[in-house]
Amino acid sequence: MAAKRENWGSHIGFVFAAAGSAIGLGNIWKFPYLAGKNGGAAFILIYLISVFFIGLSLMIAEILIGRKSQLNPVGTYRTLSGGNRKWTFVGYLGVFTGFIILSYYNVVAGWSVGYFIEGLRGRIVSFTSSKQATTFFNQCVMNPAWIIGYQAIFSLFTMAVVYFGVIQGIEKISKILMPIFIAILLALVIWGISLEGSEEGLSFLLKPKWSNVSGRTILEALGQAFFSLSIGMGALLTYGSYLGPKNSILKSSLMIVILDTLVALLAGIAIFTSVFAMGFSPDAGTGLVFSVLPAVFSKMPGGNIVALLFFAFLTIASLTSAISLLEVITAYFVDEKKYSRHKVVVIAGLIVFLVGIPSALSFGSLSHVTLLKRSIFDFFDFISSNVLLPIGGLFMALFVGWVVKKTPMLEEFRKGAQGWVDAHVIYGKKRKEKQAILTLGNVWFFVVKYIAPVIILLVFLYSIGIL
Ligand code: PHE
Repeated sequence: MAAKRENWGSHIGFVFAAAGSAIGLGNIWKFPYLAGKNGGAAFILIYLISVFFIGLSLMIAEILIGRKSQLNPVGTYRTLSGGNRKWTFVGYLGVFTGFIILSYYNVVAGWSVGYFIEGLRGRIVSFTSSKQATTFFNQCVMNPAWIIGYQAIFSLFTMAVVYFGVIQGIEKISKILMPIFIAILLALVIWGISLEGSEEGLSFLLKPKWSNVSGRTILEALGQAFFSLSIGMGALLTYGSYLGPKNSILKSSLMIVILDTLVALLAGIAIFTSVFAMGFSPDAGTGLVFSVLPAVFSKMPGGNIVALLFFAFLTIASLTSAISLLEVITAYFVDEKKYSRHKVVVIAGLIVFLVGIPSALSFGSLSHVTLLKRSIFDFFDFISSNVLLPIGGLFMALFVGWVVKKTPMLEEFRKGAQGWVDAHVIYGKKRKEKQAILTLGNVWFFVVKYIAPVIILLVFLYSIGIL
């Protein structure tokens, strides 16, 4: 075990950092376009079921094994399996997934930085039609200097934060950025709802259209739950490894899941009320936020300010997620290989940036290259959300349920839980508190051991057409 591991300065610091990891492009860029593509409310319902039935339990499991081992993903699987090296592959898979996700994540986050800068020059509110806005988007992403340049700038932001470590870098920046982020989001929601014709957007989000739902939709909703909650690759495990024994993991996880879900829904409301009120179509796909919203902003009074707020908001959200991805890679090399944090951040950051270049170019000069009928960018995104993260989550659940076993896991579950559960959960009265924690622990363990693995497998089989 590492001798002196940094610990979060406060519980709220941890919750903000972990919520910062969860809340990101997944909520604001991906969730709305997936919902738009998959029939709105129907997709959202399946998504919510995935989040609360599986996501929450897996999040608890992931933070919990990280706190128990106080190590990076690879070290965690090795130590908690009692030195059984067979299981370290789940940890390596996580570090690998981190590389893949961060590589294309930097690209989209770079667009956001780019749009903010274009916004400062007044250039993203000058459109009279969504076609014009789409043409502008295409010009940006097809220009290698633009797209790689902003990808590089965003990569440097991320590296700078992780370079300073957990408390000085990640916790500090998360505590400053999260409240700003929430304030901007609320402003955008109020703005969207106040527009004339916003009801249509709301009804799109609330009334399910089941005709658009297929096996693929269910896989996408489950994959999105993993992606959005940052589960299945060790980001939360790594953040959990900096957590002390006094905090209730159940409480933290509930807060993170609720915050993440609220932000996705609120972002959906802000975006679809505006999209419908301004007469645009919700199913624009990957470009929804970048090619439709600017046209929406162009039509709004004060649109330039809203646009600047929005892209600042998106950049902040992306940054707090990207740092958690880079932290996984960093923690692995620091713990296992004993490299210095500074060296790892610079080298790994650079490699991730280089790996991301083909994704960046897949909108322009490499657009003809396809993998499994997808562009390089879409392939990386599909593989990580819908394959790597669910597989990582599946093996993590099997590991916790069948390898580590119940007693040590429930012990860890109970640590820090007292003094909180009594006030909030079913039983109410103080003397029943211990029993309440025990029951919750048992339910959680049952879900992780049996229900989550079975559901993940079923969804896989169903989506590839075996069921
Ligand atoms: N949850 C982040 C988002 O929604 C992405 C992410 C996935 C971060 C996996 C860390 C690990 O944008």
